[in-house]
Formats: sequence, C-alpha cells, structure tokens
Amino acid sequence: MTKRIIVTGGAGYIGSHTCIELIQRGVSVVVLDDLSNSSIDMLDKIEAITGEKPEFYKVDVSDGAALAQAFASIGTADGVIHFAAKKAVGESVEKPLLYYQCNVMGLVNVLKEMARHDVGRLIFSSSCTVYGQPEELPVGEASPIQKAQSPYGNTKQIGEEIIQEQISAVGEKLRCISLRYFNPVGAHPSGLIGELPLGVPANLMPYITQTAIGLRQQLKVYGDDYNTDDGTAVRDYIHVVDIAKAHVVAMDRLLAVDEAGSWEVFNLGTGTGSSVLEVIQSFERTSGLSLNYEIVGRRPGDVEAVYASTSKANKVLGWKAELTLDDMTRSAWLWEQNIRQANS
Ligand code: NAD
Ligand code: WQD
Repeated sequence: MTKRIIVTGGAGYIGSHTCIELIQRGVSVVVLDDLSNSSIDMLDKIEAITGEKPEFYKVDVSDGAALAQAFASIGTADGVIHFAAKKAVGESVEKPLLYYQCNVMGLVNVLKEMARHDVGRLIFSSSCTVYGQPEELPVGEASPIQKAQSPYGNTKQIGEEIIQEQISAVGEKLRCISLRYFNPVGAHPSGLIGELPLGVPANLMPYITQTAIGLRQQLKVYGDDYNTDDGTAVRDYIHVVDIAKAHVVAMDRLLAVDEAGSWEVFNLGTGTGSSVLEVIQSFERTSGLSLNYEIVGRRPGDVEAVYASTSKANKVLGWKAELTLDDMTRSAWLWEQNIRQANS
C-alpha cells in the first residue's frame, strides 16, 4: 500500500530534496510549511522533477490550533519527517525566544498531533552542532553532547530530549530516528532546487557561489592558524541529495515492523573532513573560475575541526554518502547561476 508521509518544512532546502526522493520511491507526500524561509514555487519545482505535486498546508507548526486543524484535514499518515525550524545560529543569539517558540514549541505541537492521530513514526532533523568540538575525531553518535553554544544548538538538544521523554511516556506508540546532519551543501542535479539563503549568507558554500556570481565582493576565510593540515577549519560537507536519501531509508526502517529501536540516532556525514581552502579549490576546479578571497581572523564560536564517524549509518541503515566534494561545489554553482538567471 502507498505510504503517506507528512513533511514539515517540506518547501525548504533539505525538505524539498527529501520530498523528491520520497515521491520517486512511490511515497505520497504531504507538506506542512509556513513559507517563512521558502517559496510556494517549490511545490511546482518538485512537480517538474517528479511529475507529482505534494499536497500542501500553509501552517506555522508553533501555532497549536492551526496545526491541529491541518492534521485533522490530513486524516491519516504513516509518519512525519520534521524539518520545520529556524536555523540561523547568529539570529538565535539575538532572538532566543523566537527560536524556542518555533523549534521547541513547534516540535511539541507536532508530537501532540501525532499522538492524537495515531501517527507513530518520526524523523527529527538534528545537527552535528550538539557535539561542539569533540575530543575525538571522527565523532561517533555516542560522543558526549557538549553544552550548546547557541540557542539554536540548544533547541536541537532539547528537541532530542523531548522526543525521548515522549517515547518513555507512550512506549511502543512512538518510534523516532534523529538524524544529526553535518554540513549539508550542494543542490539538486537538475539545477531547479537548492538553498535560498536570505540576505548575506553566514555559511561557506552560498558565500562562495554568491562571490563568484558577483553578488559579494570577496570571501573572507575565517582563520588559517588552526591545527589542521593547511591551517583552515575542517568540516564534513555532505551533499543534500545524499542527506535526502538517508531520510527515505530511515523512514523505511521505522516502518519495518520490529526492526528499529524506539529511539535511534545517526550521523549523516561523508566521514571525510575538508578544509575551507579545499572547498575553495574544489569550487575553482569545477567552475573553472578563480575565487576572490582573503584570509582574515577566526570567526568567534567556530570549532577547529569536526567530521563524522558514519559507520553506524553505513551498517545499520545501509546508507552511505555517494557524492563527492566536487559534486557538491558543481551543483551549488549550477544552482546559483540558475537562480540569478531566473531573477535577472
Ligand atoms: P530551511 O530554512 O531551508 O527549511 C526549513 C523550512 O521550514 C522552510 O521551508 C521554512 O519556511 C519552514 N519553517 C520554518 N519555521 C516554520 C514553522 N514555524 N512552521 C512551519 N514551517 C516552518 O532549512 P533547512 O536547511 O532545510 O533545514 C531543515 C532542518 O534541518 C532544520 O530543522 C534545521 O535546523 C536542520 N539542520 C539544517 C542544517 C543546515 O546546515 N542546513 C544542518 C543541521 C540541521
Ligand atoms: C564552515 C566553515 C567557517 C563562511 C553552521 C552551524 C551549524 C550547522 C551548519 C545547523 C567554517 C568557514 C564560513 C565564510 C568562512 N547548521 N567560513 N567564510 O559553522 O560549520 O556550521 O552551519 O545545524 O549549526 O553552526 O558552517 O558553513 O558557516 O562554516 O571561512 O564566509 O567555513 O569559519 O570553518 P558551520 P559554515
């Protein structure tokens, strides 16, 4: 029988890529999104790629009454993938209550509606930010959670705790997989969908592509005095399409009777760290351009190096990231060119 999955935040960056992978595997997708960081056009793009337009409800998950109404209209579903959240670390420091309202209250409301409608399978979008600067690399799922460096990071830690407590309370009725993403980058190979950062991007990849297209004058590389091979900070960049595919296998696992535990956590990374200079070199290789950048001081709050141990996801989920850093920079550049062309 066709599975029906509710995807909160399904019009966003990772959510839209995941909708595509789900639809391409025959899943019926229902998107809930308030479009606060995305556009309704995304649904047409999903249709252009897959031939199917997801059912859509414009709703703020932190508005309990509105969410209850949406769930009542949806009727039954097999599971929820909960992407809807605010994700800007700097903004969360300035507006912590907004982040707790959206990310924590939103999750509580989703859990309430899942319980009310007997929807018992959940995938939660967590983050490698919960590990801080780990003592050992690569970082495994059992590594200690560090005190959160920002309200945003705290919402992910609290979110994981809330779900575990709800599982303790309701027992077998709820099973959840928390996926801790490392640094999702890149775009769909069609060039039709990708990340749409509002304003000046804080993240490396959109800053690189916006500099190359002429929107920004110069990329600032934050620090070359780290204890890494070339002195610049190291991250585990992972292609968004690989991340999206992991959600499909994680939902399959949750829906396979008795296979999954009630609470499982998986890292989603490639297992390989790349430095900022390596990302720039990859971009220059795949675009054929020379990027204007300069080395400046460290960015406050940045960790030196973090990359994932992926052996648990490889073994238990049977999932492995397949796309390379060059695939990431190539697709990010194609996407940047396409959006600027569309807007010109
Ligand atoms: P995104 O902003 O592109 O997508 C989030 C979507 O949720 C958007 O479409 C937005 O409109 C919607 N949304 C936000 N608040 C909402 C609300 N209150 N009600 C309904 N919809 C709401 O972000 P993304 O990069 O796709 O991130 C998806 C999830 O993954 C988030 O939970 C984020 O914290 C997590 N995550 C992202 C990264 C990353 O670097 N992109 C890394 C780790 C974890
Ligand atoms: C990567 C590297 C920068 C911009 C953040 C969040 C984290 C997660 C992913 C959600 C760092 C360097 C960056 C620039 C640079 N999100 N850089 N010049 O900091 O690893 O993680 O996004 O959960 O929570 O904190 O990602 O892309 O900002 O930075 O040199 O203009 O690129 O210093 O070393 P980060 P990033």
